[in-house]
Amino acid sequence: MEQIRKAVLPVAGWGTRFLPATKAMPKEMFPIIDKPVIQFIVEELLGAGIENIIFVTGRHKRPIEHHFDISSDLERHLEEAGKDDILENIREVSHMINPIYVRQKQQLGLGHAVLTAEPVVGKEPFIVSLGDIILEKGRRVLSDMISIFNRFGKSVIALFEVDPTETNKYGIADVKEVEEGIYKIESLVEKPNPEDAPSNLAIVGRYIFTPRIFEKLKDTQPGVGGEIQLTDAMRMLLEEEVIYAYRIPGKVYDTGNPLDYLKTVVEYALQRDELRKHLVEFLGEVVSKYSQLIDKS
Ligand code: G1P
Repeated sequence: MEQIRKAVLPVAGWGTRFLPATKAMPKEMFPIIDKPVIQFIVEELLGAGIENIIFVTGRHKRPIEHHFDISSDLERHLEEAGKDDILENIREVSHMINPIYVRQKQQLGLGHAVLTAEPVVGKEPFIVSLGDIILEKGRRVLSDMISIFNRFGKSVIALFEVDPTETNKYGIADVKEVEEGIYKIESLVEKPNPEDAPSNLAIVGRYIFTPRIFEKLKDTQPGVGGEIQLTDAMRMLLEEEVIYAYRIPGKVYDTGNPLDYLKTVVEYALQRDELRKHLVEFLGEVVSKYSQLIDKS
């Protein structure tokens, strides 16, 4: 069976939920304290042994390219200033990957973005990681998904449980357990209203696909939001091939909307020794001040 060697990272979206901040700045570059979201996704892939990373980019996404590039003038400055620790960190990022950038000229949807990478992926199985979902460190989600792929040779997607009122934010799957922790997908629907949702198991931005998905994407018509949806192509794939699902252990940080982004930043800050004490004190003060406003409303 073919090895998984490549990952596609669609990063061409408008970032509408964060406008105007995303007018000239990709949401994938938003910092979680001092590391951009996209670097977490890349480090997760490297941790799973995937080094061929294909970014599907668009207009205004240049900062992502700069981030993973060598910055000689910055390095020189840090060297002269004797800031060796930061210099080492910066060099590590510059040499982290040899990225490939593919341009999605029109933002026609996530499915269309994945299809844009076809000439680079070719006829091999590949990973898709979405640029706004960070997974709890050390959970080996991608490695587990790769193992499932290696056993069955079929597509595998990651799922996690969401609040039943939030199904309209995600692709939702109906599943059947085949063995502990491994499921078969029975049906899929993109962003259903809670009353129409087949479950509260949401697709969570990590996928392994057989190359057959490209054929299905070519036939996919615009769906929810007028966009060519990856979930719709997966539903067509399901008519021909089994799709497995893996339920994510641990936490999922969705940085794609302001509230969850803030929660992610706060939690990561609280994990840092040098920030924890001051932040806890500050949060205590503001919580007591603002919770009174909630009581009144
Ligand atoms: C996309 C997918 C959706 C998935 C979600 C989170 O939606 O279309 O199926 O559940 O990512 O991974 P988006 O957040 O881009 O609207």
